[in-house]
Amino acid sequence: MNINTKFICNIFAIVLVFTAITFANDNLQSAQNSKKYTDECIKCHSENDMMPEHFSENDIHLQNGLSCAGCHGGLSTSADEEIAMSKKNGFVGVPTKKEIPNFCGKCHSDISKMQVFQARISTDQVSQYYISKHGMQLKIGNKDVATCIDCHTSHSILPASDTRSTVYAANIPNTCNNCHGNSDLMNKYNLKSNQVEEYSKGVHGIALLEKHDNSAPACNDCHGNHGAAPPGVKSISHICGSCHVNNMNFFNNSNMAEPFAGLEIKACEQCHGNHLIAKPSDEMLNVKTSTTCTECHDKGEDGYIASEMFYEKLTQLSELYDSTKAMSEKIAIIGMNNIEIEYELKNVKQALIQSRTLVHTFDTSKVVGRTNEGVLASLNALKLADHEIEEHDNRRIGYGISTLILILLAGALYLKIKGLNT
Ligand code: HEC
Ligand code: HEC
Ligand code: HEC
Ligand code: HEC
Ligand code: HEC
Ligand code: HEC
Ligand code: HEC
Ligand code: HEC
Ligand code: HEC
Repeated sequence: MNINTKFICNIFAIVLVFTAITFANDNLQSAQNSKKYTDECIKCHSENDMMPEHFSENDIHLQNGLSCAGCHGGLSTSADEEIAMSKKNGFVGVPTKKEIPNFCGKCHSDISKMQVFQARISTDQVSQYYISKHGMQLKIGNKDVATCIDCHTSHSILPASDTRSTVYAANIPNTCNNCHGNSDLMNKYNLKSNQVEEYSKGVHGIALLEKHDNSAPACNDCHGNHGAAPPGVKSISHICGSCHVNNMNFFNNSNMAEPFAGLEIKACEQCHGNHLIAKPSDEMLNVKTSTTCTECHDKGEDGYIASEMFYEKLTQLSELYDSTKAMSEKIAIIGMNNIEIEYELKNVKQALIQSRTLVHTFDTSKVVGRTNEGVLASLNALKLADHEIEEHDNRRIGYGISTLILILLAGALYLKIKGLNT
């Protein structure tokens, strides 16, 4: 065989394999279809182009073998429209908005039905839903609120772990925004319609939507999946605290916790906001430019004095950290050893991070104590750096002297050789 026939043979073989694969796939598909078509509801509805809008074959119910009749009732083995969709056979038809929670709840609230599919599945969605603002309003006939299908769809329901799901973390803001971003609708209830807009610009929105950090909260992590309600004073710091454990513990044990609760001041939200949470900085403690503390504490009060002291100590440590870091870089550039300096630098950084969290104790001795440890570590690092620079200078002088000696020796040798030659 010459190269050309070999080439043609190869092409032919490839085409053959592709045809076989395509054929096998077609067979598989039609096998799957015929399996699906044993359900007379789907069979008749799809053949007559009467499938509901947005129906998806990926629907988790369909995937679990629960077909149309699972939700709508009826007799899925009958090809006769009258029999299949008769009341006698349990057909309930299309539920009204108000009926939807219990329409879904006939399975989702029934542990004996759900257990068959997943041993440890929760069955509290409907009861949770009815204690939320949405649920309470639906009960009294409000048709504007969300029911199960506004968040989950009705015919393309996917588990939350599926990236295509309407309740996948990164898609949730959009799902809520369908209504909460509608200003005409929200005006009716005296609610703002900028939650998603603000959330997207805050630390959590940036983390979840831009950095794809799934540990950052979406709307439901603060409002609950089904108990969507504005969290109360106590539950707010509790909810923030489920992720920011130290901040919450410090705050709850501080002398501000009780007066805050007594005055019904919202805990974390008071200083950080709820949807548009800005990246915190030491400047929040600057009494000259920020109202974080001066909103409640006038000059001379303990709170005012504490704020001034926190600011002074934190900015001092922060500046020291920057200069120590610059010094460490310089040491590395001149080729000296900065391992120990880097080690101390880590301690400075730790102290800085922890002091900023310790602000939530609102206890000057705790914050000053920790920043002072950082200052000491920083001074130690700078001392080590001085030592390295000194060593470097000494070596340079050393090199200088040895180079001079070498030049002198070379000169002497040259003269000697020259002398020998003449
Ligand atoms: C032989 C064909 C056929 C079969 C089998 C069939 N349907 Fe239908 N279905 C129809 C037609 C036609 C309509 C629209 C006319 C109507 O409302 O009666 C319809 C309407 C519906 C509706 C909308 C009713 C409404 O009030 O708007 C639902 C829900 C439905 N079918 C579900 C089912 C379920 C569940 C099954 C199986 C238990 C099923 N269908 C079996 C033909 C069929
Ligand atoms: C998880 C439950 C569930 C399953 C499974 C389900 N439906 Fe529905 N269906 C609903 C709900 C809820 C509504 C009413 C709300 C709406 O219109 O989306 C509805 C509405 C409908 C309607 C009337 C509105 C429309 O979109 O045309 C038809 C027809 C229908 N379903 C047919 C079907 C067929 C056919 C199947 C099987 C392929 C099916 N449904 C499976 C929950 C379900
Ligand atoms: C306001 C939007 C919203 C409404 C209304 C809603 N859900 Fe959910 N649902 C969610 C979110 C968000 C999740 C979970 C996402 C996650 O786990 O990250 C979820 C999860 C679920 C789960 C998975 C198990 C679980 O509890 O986490 C089921 C089942 C469920 N919902 C059923 C329902 C039923 C039934 C209704 C109506 C009674 C309903 N949902 C109403 C948003 C909603
Ligand atoms: C016939 C019983 C039945 C009905 C009715 C029903 N479901 Fe389901 N649903 C199930 C089963 C079974 C699963 C699969 C459980 C599993 O494997 O996770 C499921 C799964 C789900 C999931 C995914 C749960 C997860 O693991 O994240 C959601 C969301 C959901 N259903 C919402 C609804 C909504 C909304 C309705 C009403 C429109 C509804 N279901 C009606 C039985 C039902
Ligand atoms: C179908 C539209 C719709 C969807 C989708 C929806 N909501 Fe709502 N929601 C409303 C309406 C309307 C109200 C106002 C009810 C009232 O105040 O009487 C409301 C009220 C609320 C409230 C109470 C506000 C207050 O202070 O009274 C919260 C919290 C809330 N929704 C959160 C959410 C979250 C989180 C999501 C998404 C997971 C969501 N909603 C999805 C329509 C919707
Ligand atoms: C980090 C927690 C957190 C996240 C994430 C969050 N919220 Fe909120 N939300 C709150 C707090 C706290 C309140 C204020 C409750 C109060 O004042 O009693 C609130 C209030 C609300 C309200 C009532 C009206 C208002 O603006 O005060 C709505 C509606 C709402 N949130 C919807 C959403 C939606 C939609 C998302 C997702 C884009 C979301 N929330 C994300 C914590 C959060
Ligand atoms: C589900 C977990 C979770 C919940 C609930 C939560 N957060 Fe966060 N938060 C995070 C994560 C993760 C980050 C880190 C985002 C980043 O910077 O990459 C973060 C960042 C922050 C930051 C910025 C920290 C920094 O150093 O940049 C603040 C402030 C904050 N959250 C406050 C709150 C408040 C206030 C609440 C309650 C209203 C809250 N968080 C609820 C997970 C959570
Ligand atoms: C009285 C005001 C105030 C309250 C209340 C408050 N914080 Fe802070 N928070 C601050 C200030 C000021 C900073 C900035 C410290 C700095 O960077 O110097 C900060 C910083 C933070 C940071 C970033 C630093 C770190 O610890 O990682 C997080 C996260 C945070 N707060 C979460 C919370 C949470 C959660 C709550 C509720 C339990 C809360 N805060 C309550 C004032 C407050
Ligand atoms: C929403 C109002 C409010 C804000 C904002 C606030 N505080 Fe307070 N603070 C109080 C109240 C109320 C008390 C208890 C009465 C008192 O001692 O003045 C208190 C007490 C204190 C105390 C005295 C605790 C003790 O040991 O008796 C300190 C220190 C303090 N706050 C620091 C701060 C700092 C620092 C900030 C800013 C980061 C701040 N506070 C922001 C309301 C507030």
